[in-house]
Amino acid sequence: MPTAIVTVNNTESEQQLQVEPPAAGLALQGRICVPGDKSISHRALMLGAIASGETTIEGLLLGEDPRSTARCFRALGAEISELDEKTVTVRGVGIGRLQEPLDVLDAGNSGTTLRLMLGLLASQPECFFAVTGDKSLRSRPMSRVVQPLKQMGAQIWGRRDGSLAPLAVRGTRLRGIEYRSPIASAQVKSCILLAGLMAQGRTTVVEPALSRDHSERMLAAFGADIQADPEAKRVSVVGGSELKGTSVVVPGDISSAAFWLVAAAIVPGSELVVENVGVNPTRTGVLDVLAMMNADIHWENQRTIAGEPVADLRVRHTKLNSCEIAGEIVPRAIDEIPILAVAAAFASGTTVIRDAAELRVKESDRLAVMAQMLTKMGARVTERPDGLEIVGGSPLQGADVDSHDDHRIAMSLAIAALNARGKTTIHHAQAAAISYPTFVSTLKSACDRS
Ligand code: S3P
Repeated sequence: MPTAIVTVNNTESEQQLQVEPPAAGLALQGRICVPGDKSISHRALMLGAIASGETTIEGLLLGEDPRSTARCFRALGAEISELDEKTVTVRGVGIGRLQEPLDVLDAGNSGTTLRLMLGLLASQPECFFAVTGDKSLRSRPMSRVVQPLKQMGAQIWGRRDGSLAPLAVRGTRLRGIEYRSPIASAQVKSCILLAGLMAQGRTTVVEPALSRDHSERMLAAFGADIQADPEAKRVSVVGGSELKGTSVVVPGDISSAAFWLVAAAIVPGSELVVENVGVNPTRTGVLDVLAMMNADIHWENQRTIAGEPVADLRVRHTKLNSCEIAGEIVPRAIDEIPILAVAAAFASGTTVIRDAAELRVKESDRLAVMAQMLTKMGARVTERPDGLEIVGGSPLQGADVDSHDDHRIAMSLAIAALNARGKTTIHHAQAAAISYPTFVSTLKSACDRS
């Protein structure tokens, strides 16, 4: 079978990724290993940095986002070895002993770095911190964490009444609160719990729907006094306990696996096994949605590694049906909605995505950008305030599209291009390195094996 042509063109200002499937079609075959989970990588670096003693991390994601976390926490006094997929060693400062950095802390493109770090900085007495990020991060809402931190007594200033970075933080002794979050956000929940580690008394977060629980699991593994009640969507931490360094094994990122699951599902004749994928139930919304769409996905070799469930996922091409994505499944699939929109474009019937307004405040406005880019490729997409309506089934055409510097958009469009007629050029494709630095080489080898 002829292979798709995947080429990269680096200009002074951007990387262009060109994908052109052969006219006779393409079938993806083989086994794929995805890099480490981004959420778990951030948390392993951060908890290692504030714990006492040594933490070892196996399988850390070497993407730009965890590099931002490592850079910030080095500046805060943690000793973090050179980042390496095999093992990273973190020698933590001990709780309450982060150092005042000499310069601004730059979280780059990473919302998780900035929001989680804010909880730790706000509760660090007698230190002053200035934090910022790239253009995208400086436009993303920070009041969702600044407001509850202020209720705990935090002193934070920033543009628009502290709702936009750059932010200035004067660390102080905080008091525990019970916070009922209006949004299901693991970044909000984790920020408050991290602040609660050093606050007086108990800090509780109640969510409207369950978001990813990696912080809860990892805090328990580091010895924090934490109680989670997932049924009640409630989690509490009691301030004052020491965290002790431990060893963390990072599973493959289901958000990265999702690109290959959809690729094999939409490209006729494909069969792929994606190995070592983290299948924590707070993250498997994408698998539930694909099952609703009639995708053929089997879990193999299920195991638990360092407190997180892991499996290999075998996916075969099938004819996909439309479905409705709404309600509690949305936070469990929040980062996979762009690639699920691609799946919907190839499914028969109308897929409706609702309750997903959060996508408008991610690395880009993912609802607007996916609607525009899929429309450019010939899909029938209507943008709604909180979602998308996608009439699937009409063939897609190759086009000139743009990632808007959003990693998940870049990769979603590359997968859509695998089943489009003619050549697609994805502008600003370098964004993929935020969460998946080996995406293009894996794409090339998956196509070469077809
Ligand atoms: C993340 C939580 C999610 C997700 C982001 C990573 C995390 O954001 O979109 O990519 O690691 O906690 P929200 O919690 O704000 O929805």
